[in-house]
Amino acid sequence: MQDSETLEQIKKRRTFAIISHPDAGKTTLTEKLLLYGGAIRLAGTVKGRKAQKFAVSDWMEIEKQRGISVTSSVMQFEYDGCCINILDTPGHQDFSEDTYRTLMAADSAVMLIDAAKGVEEQTKKLFQVCRQRRIPVFTFVNKIDRYGRDPFELMDELEKVLGIHSCPMNWPVGLNGSYKGVYNRQQQQIELFEADGSHGSDIIKSTVGDYRDEQFAKLLAPEAYEQLCHDIELLDMAGNSFDQELVQKGELSPMFFGSALTNFGVRAFLEEFLKLAPSPSPRMAKEGIVFPETEGFSAFVFKIQANMNPAHRDRLAFVRICSGKFSRGMTVTHKQSGKTMALTQPQQFVAQERTIVDEAYPGDVVGLFDPGIFAIGDTVCESGVDVTFEDFPVFPPEHFAKVQPKTSLKRKHFIKGITQLGQEGAIQIFQLPNAADQGYVIGVVGQLQFEILSYRLKYEYGVDVEIQQLPYAAARWLVEDPQNKQPLKYMDENMLVMDRNERPVVLFVGNWQMNWTIEQNPQAQFLVVPPREWL
Ligand code: G4P
Repeated sequence: MQDSETLEQIKKRRTFAIISHPDAGKTTLTEKLLLYGGAIRLAGTVKGRKAQKFAVSDWMEIEKQRGISVTSSVMQFEYDGCCINILDTPGHQDFSEDTYRTLMAADSAVMLIDAAKGVEEQTKKLFQVCRQRRIPVFTFVNKIDRYGRDPFELMDELEKVLGIHSCPMNWPVGLNGSYKGVYNRQQQQIELFEADGSHGSDIIKSTVGDYRDEQFAKLLAPEAYEQLCHDIELLDMAGNSFDQELVQKGELSPMFFGSALTNFGVRAFLEEFLKLAPSPSPRMAKEGIVFPETEGFSAFVFKIQANMNPAHRDRLAFVRICSGKFSRGMTVTHKQSGKTMALTQPQQFVAQERTIVDEAYPGDVVGLFDPGIFAIGDTVCESGVDVTFEDFPVFPPEHFAKVQPKTSLKRKHFIKGITQLGQEGAIQIFQLPNAADQGYVIGVVGQLQFEILSYRLKYEYGVDVEIQQLPYAAARWLVEDPQNKQPLKYMDENMLVMDRNERPVVLFVGNWQMNWTIEQNPQAQFLVVPPREWL
């Protein structure tokens, strides 16, 4: 067991990710949480928001151009005695793999829903990952400053589409399209917001009081007040009651209403969320459960990012701490390679600033300089700690393209670039069977990765590339029985390539062709991921 100060620090931690469909307002909410947490002084909503909005949580130039968040960053700030780590997940639907990995490092998730659109495609996929991991999911219904769906209808949708019960912690006050505030069910208090001139760039002022207080009947239109009283009664009678145990198991989602843009309900959400969200949870390792309170530092790599900042041409491995305490300069072992290293320059991030971390605790994320040995899912730990964290789920590529440098003079840079990006886990590299061929086949989970690849190769490695889409839809590692070397029955439209370890992989144009090949070749295995001994 660790000393009492460390235990106190662990209890303070809340590490979570915000999941949503693009455009639901994740960037805006992240920014507002930082604003209320005092980590930034003004949110960039007043003027030139487009130019400013990516300054906080996004890193790369391409994000500004495309208006999407490409890489996951981590932001830490303190509020109300808690130490908050927001794991920023890429919002575009193509970046599922990176987002899934980030969810491996979170202890809970905030599911952001656009009040007018309800549960969208990407929300569903991300929610499923949270469900598999059984992490608590908190729902924030955003954009209630404008006309949206009926709140009861949204509760219903959560239940029907996602299969999760919800329990509203607050409720919008006013008439749809012109909500004036939120009602806190537990405290039975109304918070009415005052329109100020800041357009949400500053903390919003509000009037708070018991909902039965006469002033509210006066401040609100009579229909709005009546509607609220009616809704409260209905919720109390027919709604799910709050049950912390069900929340912890991921079976009940506390629901909040607000507007990240105008700051309606942001503070109330943050405060209540911090009370209900779990502190760092235990993690599964091959040797058994690792509790955060256990002595001896251990962590796993959930993200690798090269060239994060053009001013620091480096590669960082982001690790989530699972047990023990991290101190700058400590010596750790990289479990998979057996190498030891002194962590002298660990990095942490507050908004866009990098800082050197002296100490960090379970639940925290630190960026370690990666000498090129880390892979996603790897374990680092203090000597004497015998822990290897369980493998991450692998997401097989679904899109393939032949990629080659426009000029062969740049071949060396090209290979360096794709190798490094391959190590980050964003792409999978396959060699064409003809060794004389200059190009490589690149496999990705989401189509947009090709654009990112092309952009990053250009700006980080100085290589212009040609990308030629290929018609394949699935990859399977081919394992043949050495005793039974019958020739493969094969369809010409599929293609045999080699992975980076020179192992054979078949690329199939479709499921039908894949199933046919599997059936016709019972002597061989076609695996979604390579066997462990091949890695
Ligand atoms: P994302 O990261 O989830 O993709 O969403 P982001 O925060 O970038 O927000 C997407 C759009 O939704 C932005 O508008 C943003 O201003 C708007 N938005 C976010 N929260 C709210 C809210 O509570 N109410 C309303 N009405 N709008 C909200 P945009 O037009 O794309 O950008 P901008 O011109 O405002 O910068």
